[in-house]
Amino acid sequence: MVQSPSKPDSQGFFGAYGGQYVPEALKQRLDEVSQAYTLAEADPAFAQEFNELCIHYSGRPSPIFHCKNLSEEFGADIWLKREDLNHLGAHKINNTLGQCLLAKRMGKKRVIAETGAGQHGVATAATAALMGLSCTICMGEVDIERQRLNVTRMEMLGAKIQVATKGQRTLKEAVDEALAQWITDDEMFYVLGSAVGPHPYPYIVKRFQSVIGTEARSQILSETGRLPDACLACVGGGSNAIGLFSGFLDDVQVRLIGVEPGGRGDGYGQHAASLCLGEPGVMHGFNSYMIKNPQGEAGEVYSISAGLDYPSVGPEHAQLKDTGRAEYVRVTDKEALDAFFLLSRKEGIIPALESSHALAHALKMAKEMPGSLLLVNLSGRGDKDVAQVQQLFATKAN
Ligand SMILES: Cc1ncc(COP(=O)(O)O)c(C=O)c1O
Repeated sequence: MVQSPSKPDSQGFFGAYGGQYVPEALKQRLDEVSQAYTLAEADPAFAQEFNELCIHYSGRPSPIFHCKNLSEEFGADIWLKREDLNHLGAHKINNTLGQCLLAKRMGKKRVIAETGAGQHGVATAATAALMGLSCTICMGEVDIERQRLNVTRMEMLGAKIQVATKGQRTLKEAVDEALAQWITDDEMFYVLGSAVGPHPYPYIVKRFQSVIGTEARSQILSETGRLPDACLACVGGGSNAIGLFSGFLDDVQVRLIGVEPGGRGDGYGQHAASLCLGEPGVMHGFNSYMIKNPQGEAGEVYSISAGLDYPSVGPEHAQLKDTGRAEYVRVTDKEALDAFFLLSRKEGIIPALESSHALAHALKMAKEMPGSLLLVNLSGRGDKDVAQVQQLFATKAN
């Protein structure tokens, strides 16, 4: 690994953000995970097992791909890091392999996870099947409707689906449900799906996803002989973005750009752009930027992408925003959909709607920075979104 990872302090803070704002019962669980991870991180056998699974199970390294057609049309060199080619079609598997290995090491028998788009749920269900762990996936009722294909895949992989029926019935409520169950069962491990949550999860998830940035840096150097002008990734909770950024944090000339879901516009409840439009606050046990309702609690969010509509964001991103090392922008549903079709029709790659947000912003930048080299993390493939997009256009046509 080229870079030293940025670490939170001993209390789990990245500057002012992160921490553990949780009841005592949950703190005990988190401390147990923290201690086990510290030992695992120092154990070369753990790293070796993780690397072997990445290679032989997931298909790493994922390649980078030069989008020649889009580059010609938009005037900048656009490269994709192809996380969509991983086993199961997204970056989520990097993290579930690591966390389930940790669960096994801790002697846990069961895993629980939350999911929005279903990609983290599918990756957890598959990894649990592989490692002989029983698996429950918590998912909001609304997301179950949007992501039917992934629900069926999770069931086929042997997972039990726990439906979250409260509140907005999306990702936030799925996390509430998973945390509530985890507290009551000490043979259970919580496989958290993004770089969010109380310490140590943001750091653990970043470390497993840093394989993206480590590979991408050496691949772009060997393919083009230079570093990119900018690295772009979509930001839901922020795991694929922090995974990519971690490879380039020390390369100060490389701009790091996180792309948030701008949804239908900047009005309350119309987007999930926590860094662009939110303010600091605590939810789900950690301090970060968040979208608040008028009472100051977690507010309503919306995005066309089930994987992006979370009212907070990973604490390291909050720190990177404040220090100015990374920039955060937002892209609307419409712009993301346009990018979804462009990549499909110009390069023959159907991207996930989440990843389409990052591409949409790269296309804007290409026009502003002709001749530049832009590296976009294609965090997942769009198979899961095909029915939703088709339905959207069918509704419009009627
Ligand atoms: C393909 C894909 N990309 C991105 C995300 C957003 O998550 P994160 O911000 O943690 O990378 C998701 C979440 O489900 C996803 O499925």
